Amino acid sequence: MPLFPDYIIQEVADKNDIYDVISKTVRLKKAGSSYIGLCPFHNEKTPSFSVSPRRGIFKCFGCGEGGDVIRFVMKSEGLSFFDAVTKLADSANISLPKVSGYNKEEEEKKKEHNNLIYQINKEAASFFYSSIKNSNEAIAYFKKRQLDSQTVKMFWLGFAPNSWTSLFEHLKQMGYTEGDIFDAGLIKRHESGRYYDTFRNRIMFPIFDSKKNIIGFGGRVMDDSKPKYLNSQDSPIFSKSRNLYGLNIALCSKKEFCILSEGYMDTIALIKSGHDNTVATLGTALTSQQAKLLSNYFKEVVICYDSDKAGRIATLRAITVLREENIKISILDLKAEKDPDEYIKTYGKARFDAALSARKTDMVYLMDYFGENYDLKKSDDVISYIADVTAYLKLVKSSVETDVYVGMLSEKTGVGKDAILSQIGIKKDEAPKLSSLADAEVINVVNKSGLPADNKEYLNKTRSLLLGTLFYDRKLYERFSSKLDVAMFERSVHKTIFEFIKSSYEKGEKLSNTTLLNSFETEDDIQEACGILALDIQSEDNIKAVNDYINEINAKAGPEMALELLRQNKITLEEFNRIINNKG
Ligand code: UTP
Ligand code: MN
Repeated sequence: MPLFPDYIIQEVADKNDIYDVISKTVRLKKAGSSYIGLCPFHNEKTPSFSVSPRRGIFKCFGCGEGGDVIRFVMKSEGLSFFDAVTKLADSANISLPKVSGYNKEEEEKKKEHNNLIYQINKEAASFFYSSIKNSNEAIAYFKKRQLDSQTVKMFWLGFAPNSWTSLFEHLKQMGYTEGDIFDAGLIKRHESGRYYDTFRNRIMFPIFDSKKNIIGFGGRVMDDSKPKYLNSQDSPIFSKSRNLYGLNIALCSKKEFCILSEGYMDTIALIKSGHDNTVATLGTALTSQQAKLLSNYFKEVVICYDSDKAGRIATLRAITVLREENIKISILDLKAEKDPDEYIKTYGKARFDAALSARKTDMVYLMDYFGENYDLKKSDDVISYIADVTAYLKLVKSSVETDVYVGMLSEKTGVGKDAILSQIGIKKDEAPKLSSLADAEVINVVNKSGLPADNKEYLNKTRSLLLGTLFYDRKLYERFSSKLDVAMFERSVHKTIFEFIKSSYEKGEKLSNTTLLNSFETEDDIQEACGILALDIQSEDNIKAVNDYINEINAKAGPEMALELLRQNKITLEEFNRIINNKG
């Protein structure tokens, strides 16, 4: 984002006290070193919105919104970054330099260009649609797959002719330029400099975003050749990891849950049989961005993947990704070796609906799924079985839910609940489970009770606390700098924050949260970073706290980290072995 120089933005942020700005519209009450109030970004009755003047950060632990003073103005007044900085500069009497490289005009141009690409895509979709009638093979294929004309219209399906340039010629004739058609990903450039159609001799599935723009295409061959599906490349308007096929339709559904399938054809078949709440990933495994998207709109996700081996493995992965979000997860197990499209066509809608009603929650599904591999009358099998299931029970955030499933597992295996709980990493009497609390509460519990459960999420909380404590405290950083290494962190946001703290202090610069936030590219990363900066912990003894955090991370993540250090040649093989063996 080439805009004003960093130092000017920082000056604007520094001269507009975040407390002064926010307290104009939100009633804030003092709570320790911070202030709390009712969040202006979502409806709530008990305050979870916190403002830390010391850190220049606000964060809502309810809805997750967070940022510096500039982002508060952007979000509360609906302004662009540029306009928010201008407004705040104005009220602090800071004169801004004339900016080049970024301005409103350029933003507008980008928007205009995107709109043009949507338009080209729409034109291409119409072209593909009207090309169906010229191909007997395509007509036969639609018939074979039971895609009637109403369905074809509803999903804007089409056919890319078996020709190198028919779409290209058509779009040029409509007045679009080579460059723009290329930006839409509809043509490719040959070494010779000539352009040719990306999609040829394929059944076309336009992909829509939530605003109903066509952002890309999937194209299927009509025989067994490879690749079966060709998808548009990622571009500024199309990201496979941030969109879902069918979401434009599912957003209009009245249902509170959505069905997550693997493919275009599955989504179409399910929507056609009345499940207008079906979506599919776009040829990749479910991503955390897609999981967030779903949790924003639905209360429950029903995973309905193919029932073959690959589909079952993808189901396990999807559960892991979705468990990070606050959404109920269940599994529709089709059992028969079929995908949802074939299932409905073979057994009919009624049988599918019955399977949907009989869906299992993820943890119950997993207990049954892993159970198939073992004979629970044998003690060895019981041990392996419990290890398999507890690896997933660790993902459960609510302590009540954990208790319910541990009870079921105990009953099924005859192993006591305490033993299972300790396998999950929860010691008896150690309630409440840390990860089930909001970050704000976690800080309190950590400060009060020391360091509990050994799980990944807990470890990442510890890493956040470490970074949150080090941020702004140069002396503390310097004291521990020899013990700190980027390899201690796993998540990219953590790594970025650590590198930022390190390089700012080593260069003798003042730490600037605004500069840090501007270095992230996605809103998700900004929100995660704000969560960490908002950890404005004023512990009695920060030195001891940081020491504890470092030891905790080293002890729990030791082997993995040692491996990473070894890879980077920072330790010798001998040292590596020593670390591993010390772990015991
Ligand atoms: P499937 O191979 O299960 O295909 O891939 P499908 O959806 O059941 O389609 P039909 O019934 O064979 O026509 C599932 C999804 O994976 C992506 C597509 O999004 C597809 O819908 N995929 C698959 C690709 O992106 N490329 C491929 O080559 C294959
Ligand atoms: Mn299929």
